[in-house]
Amino acid sequence: DEQTSEKLVELAKRRGYFFQSSGAYGGVGGFYTFGPQGASLKGNVEDAWRDRFAVAEGNMEIDAPTIMPEPVFEASGHLETFDDMLVECPECGESHRADHVVEDNTEYEDAESLPIPEVEEVIAEYELVCPSCGTGLAGQAVETFNLMFATNIGPGDSDPGYLRPETAQGIFVEFPRLKEYARNQLPFGVTQIGRAYRNEISPRRSIIRTREFTQAELEYFVDPEEDEPDLESVEDVEVTLYPASEQHSEGGDELETTIGEAVEDGIVGDEWVAYFLGIAKPWYESIGVDMDRFRFRQHLSGERSHYAADCWDAESEIDGNWIELAGFANRTDYDLSKHDEYSDDRFTIFKQYDEPKTVERATVDPDMSYLGPEFGGAAQDVVDALETLAERDRSAFESDVVEIELEGEGGGENEAETHEIPVEKAGFSVDEETIAGEHITPHVIEPSFGVDRVIYTVLHHAYREDEVDGEERTYLALEPEVAPTFVGVFPLQSDDDLESVADEIVSDLRKLGLSATYDDSGNIGRRYRRQDEVGTPFCVTVDYETIENEETTVTVRERDTTDQKRLPVEDLAETLAEIRDG
Ligand code: GAP
Repeated sequence: DEQTSEKLVELAKRRGYFFQSSGAYGGVGGFYTFGPQGASLKGNVEDAWRDRFAVAEGNMEIDAPTIMPEPVFEASGHLETFDDMLVECPECGESHRADHVVEDNTEYEDAESLPIPEVEEVIAEYELVCPSCGTGLAGQAVETFNLMFATNIGPGDSDPGYLRPETAQGIFVEFPRLKEYARNQLPFGVTQIGRAYRNEISPRRSIIRTREFTQAELEYFVDPEEDEPDLESVEDVEVTLYPASEQHSEGGDELETTIGEAVEDGIVGDEWVAYFLGIAKPWYESIGVDMDRFRFRQHLSGERSHYAADCWDAESEIDGNWIELAGFANRTDYDLSKHDEYSDDRFTIFKQYDEPKTVERATVDPDMSYLGPEFGGAAQDVVDALETLAERDRSAFESDVVEIELEGEGGGENEAETHEIPVEKAGFSVDEETIAGEHITPHVIEPSFGVDRVIYTVLHHAYREDEVDGEERTYLALEPEVAPTFVGVFPLQSDDDLESVADEIVSDLRKLGLSATYDDSGNIGRRYRRQDEVGTPFCVTVDYETIENEETTVTVRERDTTDQKRLPVEDLAETLAEIRDG
């Protein structure tokens, strides 16, 4: 129901999960602080991600700066194309995302991929209005707005820098060094968990769309010709898929299938993407995302980022809407090629052949005394054109004259001119050469997770209301693996003996690495409710039976069922540690 989000956001603030930042100064849109419970949940989710996507896969992890110089984003394409569509209200001056205004009020579901003039037409046709003040937006110009936060590095404005809009670029730019750490062997993966920044036009839905957020990204570098994923290990994973073809067709629907079948049927065409979907799904399940409210949706072609060949999103259902949790993209050699082109470093890997190969190499050594006077300043262009031709088409050198095409004066505006060069002036020859390998540009498969959105989903899917002893109760059915507090320990009443046993239990639990909290304020019922609301899986109560009986026992209460059991104190810490470790 629509209200779960509202109730959750209220609970999150009251119990220390998250709240809007800088409230003392009126708050600022799109920035959130994780409170004590939230920071702990976030840390646990990040650790679980690290365990699965870095440690268990044998991938490296790095931690790069969040500010990077302008040339990085010139090369990556973000400066040029990392834009959203903005429309400003003529009355109140508020800016809105034009595609959201369209999607929220018309049947268009993918307005982001429409060209600007069409968005303007839709706004006029549907008489769409400003979401803040209701003034008509027809006739307002829709503009592009670059989402990167700009800054200056050092005094003055000569060295512009940007807050990274994705953690990925911090990995790509260090590829020349990272490949050394991987001993120049493909495939290898590099992960990073860290902040990313986007100056979103309309931040919305609390931590779902913010201006500063955390990503957990894996950049997996492969040789597209040779490397293959271990699909067998994930082939039986059951998934709900929503392919582009189904989204296009009327009455199209989600498919229930397995990773193995989806690959076999060509539904997920990219085997590497399929592999990562296959490990992501059980991971989401393990941290508490409800699998009945989870799917993978393929991007429509207009929706894909400037770098992606194919992309699937992990999505979760929140109050009837699907939100994007993660993207799984094949970025091909886009990023490494760009950085290779724009920087002074090499973003390739030397691929050694099993055995050295003898190859023929065609070269030219043109007669410059002929080319000089004849072609003036264009002599170098002729040499380049001859070299290219020698590489591509040796038969061109079999006749008496070689035909090459040069751009006419004034570059592309004029027709290309054909020139005939006598073949003896081209210095064409074919030699044999032994080579040990070749430089290749790896392709990149990228699972890119948003940490804040998964936290929101985990909390939302865990939100429960029930009745206990005739009283309404709210609790979070969080997985023990990620719950911020694992166990609450309470002395039943204020009593030195009870308190000292409880203290001792807390320190024993903490020694085993269990996060335990001690609480002696308020009646016992209130203390249970407090822990229920933060999602603490177990509560331990020390009562008079504990200290009066020969065998020291305590009550252990389970959060979801509220069932209580007596356990000997000496077994307590180990029993709970076993439960936590699954
Ligand atoms: N490197 C690829 C990349 O950044 P993306 O789809 O733009 O891809 C990846 O972002 C994930 O980051 C998203 O799936 C989402 O979970 C998260 N994300 C993106 N923008 C966000 C925002 N404004 N607020 C919170 N999370 C965001």
